[in-house]
Amino acid sequence: MNEHMRPMTLSERADEIEEKMMNELAERVATKSVLFGMADGKIELQNGVAFKAANPDKYFLMGADPRLPAMPAKPTLIDFFKNRFASLNHLLQSAALALKNGHNEKIVLACLLHDIGVASFIRCDHGYWGAQMIEPYVDEEVSWAVRMHQALRFFPDESVGYEYPQQYINNFGADYKPEPYIVREYERARNHKWYMSARMICVNDIYSFDPNAKVNLDDFVDIVGRNFRQPEEGLGFDDSPSAHMWRTLMWPTRFL
Ligand SMILES: [Fe+2]
Ligand SMILES: [Fe+2]
Repeated sequence: MNEHMRPMTLSERADEIEEKMMNELAERVATKSVLFGMADGKIELQNGVAFKAANPDKYFLMGADPRLPAMPAKPTLIDFFKNRFASLNHLLQSAALALKNGHNEKIVLACLLHDIGVASFIRCDHGYWGAQMIEPYVDEEVSWAVRMHQALRFFPDESVGYEYPQQYINNFGADYKPEPYIVREYERARNHKWYMSARMICVNDIYSFDPNAKVNLDDFVDIVGRNFRQPEEGLGFDDSPSAHMWRTLMWPTRFL
């Protein structure tokens, strides 16, 4: 058997199946950004020129991916919750706890949105990503709190009964130490007028989900309506500094 006849490895086979599936999507081909491959330990870019040469009758997807839930022409925050966020439980339960603890609507909204970076986008530095996404649409205090919870999570505050999460010891090991940029951010936040707002996200951040708790997104639609400036054109189409982030979430496999 010569080199060209060797049987395919499992990963080559998986790649071939995936490519076939992608090609059969329709006449439009979805592409993966480099970031998606990095999660599998690969740094590679699909070669558009080579693909076009091999498939001259195909075009690349430049809009909605038919495998994902369809989004309306003018998407609202609630549409993203329903169609793009991988999990709502944590966000809903944290917001419900904040409501039960008597916090104002800004804090409840901050709890509802604090992990949208993780729920929709990326884990690394999720507080910063989430804050940036919502910044044009919420009170500055809300986005500030979402950004800062990223750092505050790692530091206890006995004055409000917040301890270093046991879950972090389980997840990262007992000897994990936050990087210097997180420590600096925490020190900056400590003396800020909105420190307690960000701290309240940590206090209401629920790690142990109650599978029987019934929390519904509908319970928060009014609070969102009063505190999130939904753009008339739809999230992604209002030319705000974060519109591109919402569009990317809507069309994650667009070629460009
Ligand atoms: Fe978080
Ligand atoms: Fe959280």
